[in-house]
Amino acid sequence: MYGLVNNGIRTFILDSHGEATWQAICDKAGVTDEEFENMASYDDGQTYALVGAVSETLSLPAETVLEVFGEYWVGFSKQTSVGKLVDQGSETLIDRIRGLDEMHEMVKTTMPHLNPPGFDFEERPDGNHRLHYYSSREGLAPMVVGLLRGMAQDSGVSVRINQLEYRGKDSDHDVFSVRIESAEASSAA
Ligand code: HEM
Repeated sequence: MYGLVNNGIRTFILDSHGEATWQAICDKAGVTDEEFENMASYDDGQTYALVGAVSETLSLPAETVLEVFGEYWVGFSKQTSVGKLVDQGSETLIDRIRGLDEMHEMVKTTMPHLNPPGFDFEERPDGNHRLHYYSSREGLAPMVVGLLRGMAQDSGVSVRINQLEYRGKDSDHDVFSVRIESAEASSAA
């Protein structure tokens, strides 16, 4: 993955736990760089090793680490130069979810080696929408849950998310139900 993702993990840990914890995580992960070039490609193994080391160091399940990081990523990525290029801030949550593939396609114009996820959103009249997540990578479904929570928070709504199907178990991809529970925060206030 691009170094931007590893730098996201780094900034997340520095913000929440400080330099010493980050050093310990790098040692455990066998990562010597400690800082990454945002626009350079790194082996996916390095990102997985970092997530594993965060999980061990903070005594949290890896799924929780991925979920919390996904939530963090929404704010973090927005502040990067690529994020500013693809700002979706003024769209509704549903439009943002619908636009995820197009957004990653735009990211790809500046990050040509991007291997992005794919999403299919089925909007349902009863409000129990379905989100299909496709990836060439394994194990990142919890990050999608965090990303959706982060996007919802950013859009001023709350969502209920449940994973309905699991890649490798009952499907060839992950499927989530997404229900928007509250209207825009501004109208509720
Ligand atoms: C401005 C915002 C964003 C930027 C710049 C961005 C960029 C990236 C980058 C660089 C990667 C690593 C892939 C690679 O290097 O090959 C990635 C992966 C990913 N992105 Fe985004 N992204 C953004 C927002 C989002 C949002 C809002 C979602 C919400 C669902 C999302 C879902 C994912 C997922 C699930 C992956 C993991 C890759 C996989 O599943 O194979 N991203 N993105």
